[in-house]
Amino acid sequence: MKVFSQKMQISIEVDELKAKHLTVGLVPTMGALHQGHLALVKKALKENDKVVVSIFVNPTQFDNKDDLIKYPRTLDDDVELLKTVSKDNVLVYAPTVDDIYNGNTVSQKFDFDGLEFEMEGKFRNGHFDGVGTIVKRFFEIVKPHRAYFGEKDFQQLTIIKKLVEKHSIPVKVIGCPIHREANGLAMSSRNTRLKPEYKKAAPFIYKTLTTAKEKFGTKSANKVSEWVEKEFAKHNLLKLEYFIIADTKTLKPVTRKSNKKTYRAFIAVYADDIRLIDNIALN
Ligand code: PAF
Repeated sequence: MKVFSQKMQISIEVDELKAKHLTVGLVPTMGALHQGHLALVKKALKENDKVVVSIFVNPTQFDNKDDLIKYPRTLDDDVELLKTVSKDNVLVYAPTVDDIYNGNTVSQKFDFDGLEFEMEGKFRNGHFDGVGTIVKRFFEIVKPHRAYFGEKDFQQLTIIKKLVEKHSIPVKVIGCPIHREANGLAMSSRNTRLKPEYKKAAPFIYKTLTTAKEKFGTKSANKVSEWVEKEFAKHNLLKLEYFIIADTKTLKPVTRKSNKKTYRAFIAVYADDIRLIDNIALN
């Protein structure tokens, strides 16, 4: 398996593949790969001749220094795991911070038509400028035909589609369903940091989301939110940061339900010092 650490090398490699009329998919990741990432890679391999997996813990999207320092970094294991999917058709791009930022580790400022001010944007200062900066950079370096993102970060996926539209970037952005553990917990690289008692408690998040979905069939968004808040207030390990029912397109909180619109419930929860997010389609 080819592993590149410099943008020049991966760019040249992709140019050569494209000169042979091969299609290229990109799966951007921050490493600590799990089955959810592998599902993205497998889908990308079905739809493209070659797949570039980027592995880079992007400093500019972290507003919490401690979270950035503690974020798992497991490049050797990640490469081994990717080899189990394909040794020949997967290429890894694992750059250094300098290769990406050239000594100036700051974000570009973006206008995502307000999508960036909802939910995660309210709680993670500058997060989506950081995500926009790195994803745009990867699109410029790799120039993939298609790029794959998980729906666990549904707001991120919506914002990346907006980035591509507003900057006329020639790439097809493809969203993929959330991958869950058998107990319902959404797969995340952060799960590896959960202490056993928190790991045991965390499936409560998805359980609550599925009950919220049932309740949304007959109750208002406000009533469902109140119920969720009460459930978490009773929980002695998990702390709710937000639960919001939002319009799938605008990501704005729903005020009055309309059967012409689609909605999704979004949640962020602290399990000890680890922040977990999840979401579910409601209709
Ligand atoms: O979802 C992630 O892992 C990251 O936000 C991404 C898209 C790789 C950008 O750093």
